[in-house]
Amino acid sequence: MIVLAAGQGTRMKSPLPKVLHPVGGRPILGAILDAVASLAPERVVVVTGPAQPSVAAFVQARGAVNAIQDPPKGTGHAAQCALPALEGFSGDVLILYGDTPLLTPETLAGLIAAKGPHALALLGFTPLDPGQYGRLILDPDNKFLLRIVEAKDASYTERAVRFCNAGGFVLDAVLLRELLAGLANDNAQGEFYLTDIVAGARAKGLKAVAFDAPVDDVMGVNSQAELAEAEAVFQKRARLAHMKAGVSLADPATVYFSADTEIGAGTTIGPNVVIASGVTIAAGVTVKPFCHLEGVTIATGAVIGPFARLRPGSEIGEDVHIGNFVETKAAKLDKGAKANHLTYLGDVSVGAGANIGAGTITCNYDGFFKYRTEIGAGAFIGSNSSLVAPVSIGDNANVGAGSVITKNVAPDALALTRAIQTDKTGWAARFRSMMRARKAASAKKD
Ligand code: UD1
Ligand code: CA
Repeated sequence: MIVLAAGQGTRMKSPLPKVLHPVGGRPILGAILDAVASLAPERVVVVTGPAQPSVAAFVQARGAVNAIQDPPKGTGHAAQCALPALEGFSGDVLILYGDTPLLTPETLAGLIAAKGPHALALLGFTPLDPGQYGRLILDPDNKFLLRIVEAKDASYTERAVRFCNAGGFVLDAVLLRELLAGLANDNAQGEFYLTDIVAGARAKGLKAVAFDAPVDDVMGVNSQAELAEAEAVFQKRARLAHMKAGVSLADPATVYFSADTEIGAGTTIGPNVVIASGVTIAAGVTVKPFCHLEGVTIATGAVIGPFARLRPGSEIGEDVHIGNFVETKAAKLDKGAKANHLTYLGDVSVGAGANIGAGTITCNYDGFFKYRTEIGAGAFIGSNSSLVAPVSIGDNANVGAGSVITKNVAPDALALTRAIQTDKTGWAARFRSMMRARKAASAKKD
């Protein structure tokens, strides 16, 4: 199969190549490759531009073949550039555009089924506003395709057609080679249009059909506004899918998921929660409102938030409590540990049942390097303590509130670093009467 991804994406007005823009935290191109994986294609060739090393690297990381189109001269020319990589391949070839992040395996299966005995099948759709999409021109019986006309080349009556080209073609490899060899660029954009293969097939007396796909599945992303639209559709689908799998969402429209989010049944997620990439939440977890989660695994029984920020590398164990204004990064908390208020836990392991008091900070960075903190099982860290890493607190040790810990603390010990308290009997009362007298004297002078 071939994915065309060499276009400049100029309408995005962004330094990031269009196909690497994320939808649900996953690059558009990745979403397409994931949808296509359901068809188990023999070969996957992605056509990229010469000045897109980041796209080429992404393609290689995904185990696909990268073909270069230099310079880009249209979608038909892009498909031609993929042909050497299909050398020796026979059978049907699927060609997709690289800017359709919402394609589903079901729609691809529908396209392939629609081809049946015909020479060519393509993905069509009927958007509310056909805008710049290519128009599908059908025969008088509305059965077979005569040709595709790009909006820029269309006559007034052709532009009124609402059945459009979504960008997905399936046809035999031998025919594809023949049709691509016959393309010309005598059109409004001076490009070689892949869409002209439909008229080419027709000229050979072959039949081409369109599969009418759901609009949401095939929308193309060409601008930032369309990227946001695609994201909205992705989120709507993700919310429904997670609820269907048994996740409770009190206010679904305010919870944001990523393509790789995994959540077990019976987990509850409150309003205004953002789940960025790399999050796995077990069954029976409670995530309270206003949390931001990224790169974290959360075990069953854990209670998170409200207002918690869990950053990459965090492993939240069973029944752990993470409360308001707590930030974790590369923090592993074992069963039943608690950090309920106003705390930073970075590069740390916290043993089972340990209690981290309000305002505790792991000082993990000296401006040059990061260091680890180990907190033992059952340890009790008093409020407003700074643990200056590298440092370890032994099992069941206590740290007195307000301590700055720079040395390891032995198991079962109490570590205190604050000054000894001194009480001066009656001092406050004497101070008040002295100051009141002073104020009265200065008022008289005025
Ligand atoms: C294209 C179709 C149009 C269809 C629409 C669906 C053509 C001529 N037009 O228009 O009929 O309705 O998609 O979304 O095919 N690309 C290359 N090399 C190039 C040009 C483009 O690889 O030289 C790639 C792009 O990276 C993109 C895809 O092909 O992923 C489609 O190109 P784009 O410029 O977005 O085409 P549209 O104008 O949207
Ligand atoms: Ca497009």
